[in-house]
Amino acid sequence: MSVLATCLQLNVFVACAAAAVTWTATPFNPASIPLAVRSPYLSAWLNQGSGTALNADWPRFWTGSILGWAGFIKVDGTAYNFLGTPSVPSVSFQKSVQKSMTFTSTQSTFVMTSGPIDLTVNFLSPVEPTDLVKQSLPLSYLTLTATSTDGKSHSVQVYTDISAEWVTGDDSLTANWSTTVGSTLVHQVQLEDQTPFGEVSDRIQQGSAYYATTAASGTTYQTGQDIVVRAQFVNNGTLANTQDKNFRAVDDDWPVFAFAHDLGTVSGTSSPITIAVGHVRDPAVEYIVAGGNIQDRSLFFWSQFSSVGAAISSFLGDFSSALSRANTFDAKVQTDATAISSDYAGLVALSMRQAFGATEITASRNSDGSINTSDILMFMKEISSDGNVNTVDVIFPSWAIWLYTNPALGKYLLLPLFEYQATGQYPNKWAVHDMGASYPKALGHNDGNDEMMPLEESGNMLIMTLSYIQKSGDQSLITSYYNLLDQWTQFLIAEALIPANQISTDDFAGALPNQTNLAIKGIVGIKAMSEIASLAGNSSVASNYSSIAASYVTQWQDFATSKTGPHLTLNYGNDSSWGLSYNLYGDKLLGLNLFPESVYQMQTAWYSSHNNSFGVPLDTRHTYTKSDWSILSAAISTTTAVRDLFISAVHKYAADGESSQPLGDWYETLDGSVEGFRARPVVGGHLALLALQTADAKLESSAAASPTSLISPDPSVITVKASNGASRRASRWSL
Ligand SMILES: *[C@@H]1O[C@H](CO)[C@@H](O)[C@H](O)[C@H]1NC(C)=O
Ligand SMILES: *[C@@H]1O[C@H](CO)[C@@H](O)[C@H](O)[C@H]1NC(C)=O
Ligand SMILES: *[C@@H]1O[C@H](CO)[C@@H](O)[C@H](O)[C@H]1NC(C)=O
Ligand SMILES: *[C@@H]1O[C@H](CO)[C@@H](O)[C@H](O)[C@H]1NC(C)=O
Ligand SMILES: *[C@@H]1O[C@H](CO)[C@@H](O)[C@H](O)[C@H]1NC(C)=O
Ligand SMILES: *[C@@H]1O[C@H](CO)[C@@H](O)[C@H](O)[C@H]1NC(C)=O
Ligand SMILES: *[C@@H]1O[C@H](CO)[C@@H](O)[C@H](O)[C@H]1NC(C)=O
Ligand SMILES: *[C@@H]1O[C@H](CO)[C@@H](O)[C@H](O)[C@H]1NC(C)=O
Repeated sequence: MSVLATCLQLNVFVACAAAAVTWTATPFNPASIPLAVRSPYLSAWLNQGSGTALNADWPRFWTGSILGWAGFIKVDGTAYNFLGTPSVPSVSFQKSVQKSMTFTSTQSTFVMTSGPIDLTVNFLSPVEPTDLVKQSLPLSYLTLTATSTDGKSHSVQVYTDISAEWVTGDDSLTANWSTTVGSTLVHQVQLEDQTPFGEVSDRIQQGSAYYATTAASGTTYQTGQDIVVRAQFVNNGTLANTQDKNFRAVDDDWPVFAFAHDLGTVSGTSSPITIAVGHVRDPAVEYIVAGGNIQDRSLFFWSQFSSVGAAISSFLGDFSSALSRANTFDAKVQTDATAISSDYAGLVALSMRQAFGATEITASRNSDGSINTSDILMFMKEISSDGNVNTVDVIFPSWAIWLYTNPALGKYLLLPLFEYQATGQYPNKWAVHDMGASYPKALGHNDGNDEMMPLEESGNMLIMTLSYIQKSGDQSLITSYYNLLDQWTQFLIAEALIPANQISTDDFAGALPNQTNLAIKGIVGIKAMSEIASLAGNSSVASNYSSIAASYVTQWQDFATSKTGPHLTLNYGNDSSWGLSYNLYGDKLLGLNLFPESVYQMQTAWYSSHNNSFGVPLDTRHTYTKSDWSILSAAISTTTAVRDLFISAVHKYAADGESSQPLGDWYETLDGSVEGFRARPVVGGHLALLALQTADAKLESSAAASPTSLISPDPSVITVKASNGASRRASRWSL
């Protein structure tokens, strides 16, 4: 049982008391449970607060807007609602009772007791880091399995539908739809007026939602008004195999797209019924290339499929393999993270789909329309803080998840930024902040007026580049972009030691000159370029930059150490100020050992005595903190006690039952209340300890980084070289 805060509102006074949800929650009840989370536009969640059953609210998009997704089960003629909160006038049904909720990295599973039948409702959003075709398919599974709990036989039928709310941020717009009947049954729905690359309230106004299942005897379908179609099932147990052709607004007699499955007589456990839900558009992203030309890019799965229908059939047919891959993946993550702590394992599992779900893997098309499989770029939507494309200081906090699951994904995230800046269209000498203000338009910033974080982003690019090279052994970024990397380093050499008045990634905290933590990032960046120059065979540049970095560290220690307390300052000269110096993580990740161990020890000791109820504040300007930076701080703590202090604080916040939205990374340390962010991919940084554990494993072979090996059957074993020089074989994700 998970014990959660329940708040009773009594007029002006709010009382909170510990109470138990009525179901088992494993590992805990988070602020929101991922249901179908695979892309910025396939993002369905069940918001929790102090605990919300699967049939006590509608699934919602990450913004909070409703995604109609309803489910009923009939047991010996009695109907129960197990998913969503449909009201169907003039028919009677009961509510299933939630018995348990379990989440892993890829799955959320609910057991819904419906009279003598326990219905297991499994939502699987695959995470396929080494298979770009599968990872780029914006489809998710819903699987239903019925189990008799009284040892008797029961007649069981199940029903689910989605509404047209899955295709727009404006329910007054007109949708149309069709149902394809064949070996696969596919409902397809879209806006009649499509807006390529256009969003309304963060929902793409382009492409189609799909709801599909394998045709079998006892499987029926229907489209039509919500209360009509649902009543048909509740009354009858089957659907009419009819299509409503009266195309209309999403909210005009709410059209729904439904399937019913007759499970027949269930005495033990039924065969699973699997349904695919998805949202697909093509082209997916527009992207600026040389000379201001705009390129349309498609999701990578098109390299293998010529139609969405073919992709859906393959996806449904692959379910049992997908489930077994997912179970293997979940178990590996669980084992690795549990080696730190069980609190940590829960946090990592909760973060996985959220981070992957902000990204899309794309390729350009050749002139004949085929996919150019050598041109792979991954795009990331910043989500909720704004809609920027491939924000460098959002990729940076998320970085650990790509290193841990497949470093090549990190390269595909960095490549658009490198390619764009190599065209010479970006006018500033520092690294650009992002690839475009509004996803999915990666149109660059030729006017140079992107959000200005010059030290932050220049340091980030250098650190992530070297980190990728160390993990993958692939030096192609050096070969192609040495000049850009060196240009950003020149900027850091000029600006990092005495940082001008500017913002860091924590822009909500405002600008400040001489930020200690920003200087760390810049100095680590310079040292990273020294390593890169060395790899490029330029030992004179390598030794020059290395000695500059070392001399900056010495000077920085003098500027940045408080004269009155044993801690680093937030900004030089303000002895009472301090903050999380999470940029030291780069020093550890890259194995540079640039900053003295005494600095890590001093900070660790300081944090241990500045712990609020929900963790250590980000800095002395406010009492809020960031979950990602807290976990990076945990990763570089010199004691297990302080490492665990950070982890348990973030875990306590994530499980506190106070917020009801996909996990927010910015929150209050005094009471655990969430600040303005939600659903951001920066939670990939919660894997910081996992990425660091293998930081000394430098890949010798570049095989794992090459696109062909990623999608070929056997990248399962690669050779790695430990920091002591010994080669060993490391097992990777098996396919
Ligand atoms: C629905 O609208 C789309 C977009 O305008 C159009 O391409 C398609 O043909 C329409 N489908 C039906 C079944 O009317
Ligand atoms: C159930 O629906 C089917 C198909 O619409 C229909 O033929 C049948 O008469 C209905 N049965 C009842 C009991 O409503
Ligand atoms: C495919 O992409 C690669 C990498 O961007 C590029 O070098 C090549 O020219 C492209 N091929 C075609 C036919 O455009
Ligand atoms: C930044 O720190 C340096 C070194 O302590 C100092 O000389 C300079 O005045 C500071 N700048 C500001 C704006 O405080
Ligand atoms: C190293 O880089 C410097 C500065 O770009 C350049 O002048 C020099 O020729 C390079 N040396 C080698 C060996 O590449
Ligand atoms: C080291 O690099 C800096 C920055 O590029 C440059 O100004 C300086 O001349 C270099 N020093 C040597 C000895 O090459
Ligand atoms: C941090 O503070 C919280 C709340 O005061 C407390 O429960 C927890 O034990 C503290 N942790 C450490 C390691 O001091
Ligand atoms: C020093 O930092 C503290 C905490 O951030 C702040 O309240 C104070 O105003 C700062 N003092 C100066 C002189 O900037």
